[in-house]
Amino acid sequence: MLANDEQRMTKKIRVGLIFGGKTGEHEVSLASAQSVLRALDAEKYDAVLIGITQEGRWLTGGNPLQQLVRATESPLLKARNEAVQNATNETSAIVTREAAEITAANALNETVDVVFPLIHGPNGEDGTIQGLLELADLPYVGANVAASAVGMDKALMKALFRNAGLPVADYLVVMRHKWEHDPEETIHDIETIIKYPCFVKPANLGSSVGISKAHNWDELTQALTTAAQYDRKILVERAIVGRELECSVLGNDAPLASLPGEVIPEREFYDYEAKYADERTKLIVPADLTGEQTRSIQDLAVRAFQAIDCSGMARVDFFMDARDGKILVNEINTIPGFTNVSMYPKMWEASGVSYSQLIDRLIQLALERHADKKRTVSSYR
Ligand SMILES: Nc1ncnc2c1ncn2[C@@H]1O[C@H](COP(=O)(O)OP(=O)(O)O)[C@@H](O)[C@H]1O
Ligand SMILES: [Mg+2]
Repeated sequence: MLANDEQRMTKKIRVGLIFGGKTGEHEVSLASAQSVLRALDAEKYDAVLIGITQEGRWLTGGNPLQQLVRATESPLLKARNEAVQNATNETSAIVTREAAEITAANALNETVDVVFPLIHGPNGEDGTIQGLLELADLPYVGANVAASAVGMDKALMKALFRNAGLPVADYLVVMRHKWEHDPEETIHDIETIIKYPCFVKPANLGSSVGISKAHNWDELTQALTTAAQYDRKILVERAIVGRELECSVLGNDAPLASLPGEVIPEREFYDYEAKYADERTKLIVPADLTGEQTRSIQDLAVRAFQAIDCSGMARVDFFMDARDGKILVNEINTIPGFTNVSMYPKMWEASGVSYSQLIDRLIQLALERHADKKRTVSSYR
């Protein structure tokens, strides 16, 4: 038996789950945390729950997940929480620590062995939490600081995709300052280079917040004004008519791609309502594709993952242009929705990796990356 295995058998790994957060995707994050907590193998892991409120306050001690769920208006989350609670009491022990003990980076280090950040969107998926975990010298699941930040910033992301030779829709980056000081030229550039219809997006958000589709001058003006409320950097992109496909990637230096899935929103596009409220939105896993199409999506997914130097996991989203069948990379999500029915785990399930195996693998990848980093010289005398 290897020393590592022996250690694993005698001592459970303490997994810090960080969830909630100051983000539009707060409730999705709570649902992801509920699912992971329920699926954590109690023989191997203890869970340490770390919640962050909508205002950014850290909650530990007691049961922060329950506290945050109670603060939401979501009957669904509330109903699920009871089930999670019951399952958790029987299985993994929840270790309790007080907030003051845990928020200082070094104290965090003494409380958990590995962290699974489950916060989607800004202040969580964007490298901020990852930076804290680097300072604490803790292994954590998913992308490092730089890849997280790039994955959150659609302008940086597209630039790296282009740099890696990946096919993307034509786009322009518009700074809020430029739009506010020279609206005529801004619109003129968009009308000549991108044309209508186009998508206007704040560079650093998720869940389709602040995104609009513009078909004419009026709508474009409104769309830019809206996006400028959310960010100082705006992405304007040619609208693609076609299918929306997704692919899950898992690994560090040798990442693997799952079978792709397809999202069919019943609304004009996959907006906030379609993602979280519209039950007509269809998620098809695996997507109906030829072998060749599947392979090409998987290849692009891995290349997109590597283009931003991602690690652990990511979901890469695509468009298939109806005109010519060409596949374009839309975006990469470094902390994709992670409930047991979210696309990321569902695509792995369809590819033969169960939800709990996926969690095991992600924790293992986090530990491997941390160990690999230790090989790098960090003292220069
Ligand atoms: N260029 C585009 N062409 C067609 N649809 C688009 C385009 N860009 C975005 N969309 C639609 O808007 C949704 C959200 O845009 P996306 O770039 O994925 O942002 P988010 O990070 O908020 O998910 C997409 O899932 C898709 O339905
Ligand atoms: Mg998206």
